[in-house]
Parts: sequence; C-alpha cells; structure tokens
Amino acid sequence: MEKRGLLYEGKAKQLFETTEPDVLWVTYKNQATAGNGAKKETIAGKGQLNNQITSLIFEKLKDKGIPSHFIKQLSDTDQAIKKVSMFDLEVVVRNVAAGSFSKRLGVEEGSDLPFPVLEFYLKNDDLNDPLITDEHVLVLGLASADEIRDLKEKTRQINDALINLFRKINIRLVDFKLEFGKTSAGAIVLADEISPDTCRLWDLNTNNRLDKDVFRKDLGDIIPLYQEVLDRLTQL
Ligand SMILES: Nc1ncnc2c1ncn2[C@@H]1O[C@H](COP(=O)(O)OP(=O)(O)OP(=O)(O)O)[C@@H](O)[C@H]1O
Ligand SMILES: [Mg+2]
Repeated sequence: MEKRGLLYEGKAKQLFETTEPDVLWVTYKNQATAGNGAKKETIAGKGQLNNQITSLIFEKLKDKGIPSHFIKQLSDTDQAIKKVSMFDLEVVVRNVAAGSFSKRLGVEEGSDLPFPVLEFYLKNDDLNDPLITDEHVLVLGLASADEIRDLKEKTRQINDALINLFRKINIRLVDFKLEFGKTSAGAIVLADEISPDTCRLWDLNTNNRLDKDVFRKDLGDIIPLYQEVLDRLTQL
C-alpha cells in the first residue's frame, strides 16, 4: 500500500488516500487546539503520542470484540485506517461531571454520575459543535432511529471496556468523545481517535489531570502527561 493525495486536513490529523480504495493513511499532527481552534499551538511530540495511544486503545478494544476503523500502526505518527463515511455527530459519554456539563448544569466538577450520560453533538465548527437531542439527529437526517440505537449501544459497550481498561492503569475515565462511520459494507464502526485529546483522564489517587484540559486551561506541559498515559497503557 502506498500513500496518495491529501484527502482532508483537520486540526489534529491529516488523511491521505492510498492505493487501496477502502484504506486511508492518517498522520497525527503536533498541533493542539482548544475552544474550536481559538487557542492553537504546535507541541512537539504530541502527534506520535496520540497516534501510539489511539493505536493501543483500538487494539485493546478489538481484543474485547469491539471493531473500529483501525487497521495498523504504520509509524510513530501514522496509521492505516478503513475509509468510512462519517456520521456528522460526536457522541460524548460522561461518567463524572466535568467541563461543559458542570458549567451548563451547575454540577460540581468531579461528582460521580449515577449512570453514564450519553450526549450527541453536531459536528459543525461554524456552529461550535452544538449539543443536540435525538430528535434533532432525526430531523437533520444525521442518523436513523435504528442507527441512533446502534450508536448508543456501541457507545455504552465501549464505555464499559474503556472504564475497565483505564481502571487497570489507575486512571479514572471522566468523560470522552467518540466518532463513528459506516463502512462500504454498511457496518457502523468506531472511527477517529481515542486519546488524551478526546478523553478526560484523571489519576485515580491524586486526581491529577492527564489530558488536554491541562492545555485548555494553561496548566502546564501536556507532553509528560500524555507520555505517562502511554507508558501506563504499554504496561498492560
Ligand atoms: N476512518 C475514517 N474515514 C474517514 N474520515 C475519518 C475517519 N476517521 C476520522 N475521520 C475524520 O477525519 C478527520 C480527522 O481530522 P481531525 O481530527 O484533525 O479533524 P478536526 O480538526 O477534529 O475537525 P473535524 O472533526 O471538525 O473535521 C475528522 O473530520 C474525522 O471525522
Ligand atoms: Mg478531531
């Protein structure tokens, strides 16, 4: 398989076509953004950490019977992935109150939620990725009722697997964002990335943040934290 032209460049990754029609080549960039790109910095080493963390997590999920777009890691910063048609949706799971949930609803950050709360967001930077209801998903034609059910079921399954995975390495999975797509065969699969950019990860003992909130809130250098997450995952 060889790399061909650039298909899409986002804030965190570049997607390239390949000589295989159903396979994309993704390169993880060293760019960090927050607030829909309002804050933007180049951080050396971030791309390779997120690539390695995502690759490891997708492999662990596969071992647990959860398929994704991930095919294989190609290099420190690169992966081969199945090309899918993305749902214009972000699916967020919250196990613990934090971030916009705490701010919008006035729930103290760090409060355990009695059950995992699933939320849909519209993937639309111009609209600032707004929170939307199931009926919004239907009325905007983003997914069918059956697909919503499938997305929710898969998301809960992924949450259970990830909570267990992170608990083993002494990390509390506070919340995270998933993206899904449809393969050419019509199957819904987990896509995009799972990394400290897309999850809130708190050390179980100290509550220290091991994720992008440290960048969002200017609390320090994220590289040692992402490295810590990778090191712990590698020990598994
Ligand atoms: N397997 C896949 N096939 C096709 N597109 C994918 C796949 N996995 C992820 N994508 C899409 O590729 C892009 C990845 O780039 P990146 O994460 O940098 O985007 P972004 O800056 O977050 O912007 P946005 O997600 O709003 O496009 C995303 O748009 C994501 O939805
Ligand atoms: Mg992204």
